[in-house]
Amino acid sequence: MKVLWNDQIVDESEVKIDLEDRGYQFGDGIYEVIRIYDGYFYMEKEHLERLWVSAEKVRMSLPFTREELSRRLHRLAAEVGLANARVYFQVTRGTAKPRLHDFPDPQVVPPVLMADIQPASRPSAKQAIGIRAGLVEDKRWLHCDIKSISLLGNIMALDEAQQNGYEEAVLVRNGYVTEASASNFWMVKGEVLYTHPDGNLVLPGITKIKIRELARTLNLTLKEEAFTVKELFAADECFKTSSVAEILPIVEIDNQPIGDGMPGKVTKKILHAYIEAVDLAVQAHREEK
Ligand code: PDD
Repeated sequence: MKVLWNDQIVDESEVKIDLEDRGYQFGDGIYEVIRIYDGYFYMEKEHLERLWVSAEKVRMSLPFTREELSRRLHRLAAEVGLANARVYFQVTRGTAKPRLHDFPDPQVVPPVLMADIQPASRPSAKQAIGIRAGLVEDKRWLHCDIKSISLLGNIMALDEAQQNGYEEAVLVRNGYVTEASASNFWMVKGEVLYTHPDGNLVLPGITKIKIRELARTLNLTLKEEAFTVKELFAADECFKTSSVAEILPIVEIDNQPIGDGMPGKVTKKILHAYIEAVDLAVQAHREEK
């Protein structure tokens, strides 16, 4: 499989990442995941913007422009040739020897970029029946707004939920629901949607941006307010969102059904609108070409 390695497209076997790459040693890096639908990079601009925001927050200066990065990712997509896929890309603070905690001089040690593309498809079966999740204490750091490659807190939470027999973790900090292990989290009460506000405790999701838009067109009230576990158990519906999972109903938490324990009608309405928005964007892109 071809991958992007800095500014080159090479076979995966040709990539040489140094043992002292700071991403490898410290988890010192940032990343993004974009869903590709029928060759179209969905909400690419927003994902690139978030990468630059993450870079600024970790004080990393990226040695390419958004346009350059976009060109490289599209070149890779053309080489790989998968119509429905996801592109993962990450930038680490580079290789500094010997291993020192101090940030290296970016003029001397350039960040290391990589990207790979893997097939992805809409998780239709799960979207139709929903998934079961378990509550896990959110023990992550206080910079959850940064899309950092250091995901230990997230993957440990997911593993804890899986050890307890669930598919996903719903994270709880000080009694308030923050997000899922790799997705934003939402509950529905009547015609009102609730999700944790952006800030340092959750990732500002790109799918979340789209849901804000869809809520307006569907005349749903959206309240970006923290809610408690008690409020969650009294909700009618809940779901999680991410670029790859899109909108995924969560029908049971800690073995208790949410609402009637089936994907809810508001969740289905939003999912339907999301799929329509994707189709429209793909169509518009096709007509542009
Ligand atoms: N995860 N919250 C967390 C902690 C995430 O890791 C993600 C994305 C999201 C949703 O973000 P978006 O809507 O921008 O995809 C929220 C990606 C997909 C991942 O780690 O693979």
